[in-house]
Amino acid sequence: MTASNLQLDEQGRLHHFLTIEGFNRRILTEILDNAEGFATVGSKQMKKAPLLRGKTIVNLFFETSTRTRTTFELAAKRLSADVVTINIAQSAVANKGESLLDMLHNLEAMHCDMFVVRHGESGAAHFIARHVAPHISVINAGDGRHAHPTQAMLDMFTIRRHKQNFADLKVAIVGDLMHSRVARSEIHALTTLGTGEVRVIAPKTLVPPAVSTLGVHVFHDLREGLRDVDVVIMLRLQRERMEGALIPSEQEYYHLYGLTEEKLAYAKPDAIVMHPGPINRGVEIESAVADGPQSVILEQVSNGIAVRMAVMAMALGRQPGTEREAQA
Ligand code: CP
Repeated sequence: MTASNLQLDEQGRLHHFLTIEGFNRRILTEILDNAEGFATVGSKQMKKAPLLRGKTIVNLFFETSTRTRTTFELAAKRLSADVVTINIAQSAVANKGESLLDMLHNLEAMHCDMFVVRHGESGAAHFIARHVAPHISVINAGDGRHAHPTQAMLDMFTIRRHKQNFADLKVAIVGDLMHSRVARSEIHALTTLGTGEVRVIAPKTLVPPAVSTLGVHVFHDLREGLRDVDVVIMLRLQRERMEGALIPSEQEYYHLYGLTEEKLAYAKPDAIVMHPGPINRGVEIESAVADGPQSVILEQVSNGIAVRMAVMAMALGRQPGTEREAQA
């Protein structure tokens, strides 16, 4: 079964959200449109929508996370679901020899409706989706180097709020493409949404060999790659996934690929600066840029709640029919 078939139910509606690949523009746009309906819930006195009342969602984070774990949990709570976050380090899988599948079947026996999964192994979320009971939805919250689809969608949501029409945009993704699940998912989302030009900018050692087959233009010079772009997406150096020295030193990397005010001036004057976090100041980005007027990095975090609300509601078959219903 292909990833796209696995992700849709028999009526062609979202069931699992594992990867952007296989989704068409219509379904990505539907996620963005539904997220608009949830975007103001967080600023209300009563931060609740009733759509997932009675549903049970389990967060399974086998890898560290601050933004994704917290925003998934808040999104589920704001949709009125019951949420459990399993402490994997203290679970029977980690300490008593229980297999992952046995843990999942025990959680199924507790009548859960959704698993949100982060795992260090590429393909872990697909594996879980193939083995859970058919009524359970699985949302990939980042698997190895493979995919981070909700991060890509919150980034698309942030871009659309600032720039509206993807066809008119030049977007640059800068940094450690080699190890980045975020970059892979963003490239698929940007091309599916019809972005005018997608550029990737990195040293040769940090560009996956097949990246140009994804319809992007590859640059190795930051200033050249940033010229006239509308959106700059910076990536963290993923030291924890690197085998051997792929860059001479962090100082040298910052000199060549760190985003400073001087280098940002090559982009359009109204370009926005994005970063999925966590940011490493003085490695891939200067503080003056990360905290500056063109930065939308913290907006991305806020938007993550609305986008994750939209994905969870859609996967559990609860579309917000009207704005009033989303915000009730
Ligand atoms: N962007 C992101 O995935 O951040 P966390 O690792 O903190 O979840």
